[in-house]
Amino acid sequence: MLELNDYPEVRVEMAAGLFPVLYIDNFYADPMGVRDYALSLAFDQFVALYPGRHAPLDDGALKSDTERFASLEARAYVAEMLKSVSTLDIDIDDIRTDFSLITTPARDLLKFQKHPHFDQTPVLSLVYLNPKDMGGTSFWRNRVIDRAAVVTQEDHEAYERFMRNAPAGEVRDEYTMVHTDSWEKIHEIDGKFNRFVAYPASVFHWVECKFVPEPLDLRKSRLTQRFSIHQVNKQAAR
Ligand SMILES: [Fe+2]
Repeated sequence: MLELNDYPEVRVEMAAGLFPVLYIDNFYADPMGVRDYALSLAFDQFVALYPGRHAPLDDGALKSDTERFASLEARAYVAEMLKSVSTLDIDIDDIRTDFSLITTPARDLLKFQKHPHFDQTPVLSLVYLNPKDMGGTSFWRNRVIDRAAVVTQEDHEAYERFMRNAPAGEVRDEYTMVHTDSWEKIHEIDGKFNRFVAYPASVFHWVECKFVPEPLDLRKSRLTQRFSIHQVNKQAAR
């Protein structure tokens, strides 16, 4: 059910002239099947400050050998694709994957969730699994600290300083950026159905979400499959 499409559309774009984004359109052979499978799982994990919940796809969570093999195959494919377009040496064991749903209504977002963030993992990737576009991922430059990414310790300190003093901002009913005085949007990836994207986690990013059903209805929530790459060996010989 997690079979990959034999003929995906692969391309790399330089976003905002700053960082590469790998796109693989038509990623899964049967994206509706993947979606139905995802929605059959228990979304019982809440991790860090993600405004929703997760269903892990690690070996412990998968019920059959077929599922385990499919998950392994998808992770191996992601590792190979990333290696083929970059100098990053990625081990399949360093890739974690889960399904994620946005379930937090915009008005309940915490201060941190209303600002773009970066992640400590080197590369983030995900597959958008909504037949109707529910929103993609946007990328931002911070005007106050004049940075679009956190790479050095200095960047990190500047971001921490900014966030300490940053206001929570007004409460809104939709996922729109409150803080456009301090953040400038530099790029946006459309959340096209069955699209895989990978980008450097160091670039400030924010989840675009067009709709959060209330009361909670998992079938109407924004669904993605995430692949986080936890470690890369940049010195690897190719
Ligand atoms: Fe993130």
